[in-house]
Amino acid sequence: MAEAPIKAFVCGHPIKHSRSPLIHGYWLEKHGLQGSYEAVDIAPDDFPSFLRSLEELGYAGGNVTLPHKEAAFRHAEKLDGAAERIGAVNTLWLEGGHLCGSNTDAYGFAANLDQQLPGWDSARTAMVLGAGGAARAVVHALQERGFDEIRIVNRTQARARDLQMRFGGSTSSHGWDEIEKLLPSTDLLVNTTSLGMAGSALLDISLDGLPDHAIVSDIVYVPLKTRLLKDAEARNLRTAEGLGMLLHQAVAAFERWFEVKPEVTDELRQRIVHDLGGAK
Ligand code: ATR
Repeated sequence: MAEAPIKAFVCGHPIKHSRSPLIHGYWLEKHGLQGSYEAVDIAPDDFPSFLRSLEELGYAGGNVTLPHKEAAFRHAEKLDGAAERIGAVNTLWLEGGHLCGSNTDAYGFAANLDQQLPGWDSARTAMVLGAGGAARAVVHALQERGFDEIRIVNRTQARARDLQMRFGGSTSSHGWDEIEKLLPSTDLLVNTTSLGMAGSALLDISLDGLPDHAIVSDIVYVPLKTRLLKDAEARNLRTAEGLGMLLHQAVAAFERWFEVKPEVTDELRQRIVHDLGGAK
């Protein structure tokens, strides 16, 4: 008897702008798999009952996105190391009827840089702008790669301090007014705030103080090339775009449910860029 197709989902509220169905749909087709990956809109109040019904609905697992990542963390019965450290879950799966959770955002961040700028992790000092969930994933990735110093800079310094307490060791916390002073000793700059995203305010910092060998990376991918990345290119600094993190975090999730490790190809990237409206 043929095996039943594997079903996966992405759930959020709202969900209609998610590119995940396009990404996973591309890989399902590419690998000739019978599975499915669908977007479901679940309001926060309905999220716990949705999780309880996964088996009944025939899902092997799925992704969770805003605003459910923290709730998924609380409801998962088993967490992997990354989810524990980050305090949020973006990938769920069932194992012997138990709900398990992981966070593939840190993997996605590092794998994107591995692909775009091999050797990037020989940098020693990083500055992370922001202190939300995305910042936690990036700080975890940087700690895993053994960065000596990770400076967390946030408008609300108390939140940066919370992250410093959480991650300890190599991290320090700073206010926005310290950016200029810290730039000359920064090898890698990562924006994890929503600044620069279409519809948000611009990230207005001068990169003049960065050393010539510095790498600049943004997790914002609409537009594809943010002002931060354009400024970095104008200074001839190496850059990594945010779309890659989205594509690579999906690799680890897809592999979890469909047991095939897919590739982030140029063709996939072009499809998503096209869907984003050709954002340059
Ligand atoms: P996520 O979980 O997606 O990272 P978040 O928790 O809402 O989202 O975090 C958004 C980040 O963008 C925060 O670091 C936020 O700074 P505050 O903690 O001070 O709010 C940052 N951010 C958003 N708008 C900003 C602005 N206008 N100036 C500076 N930082 C901003």
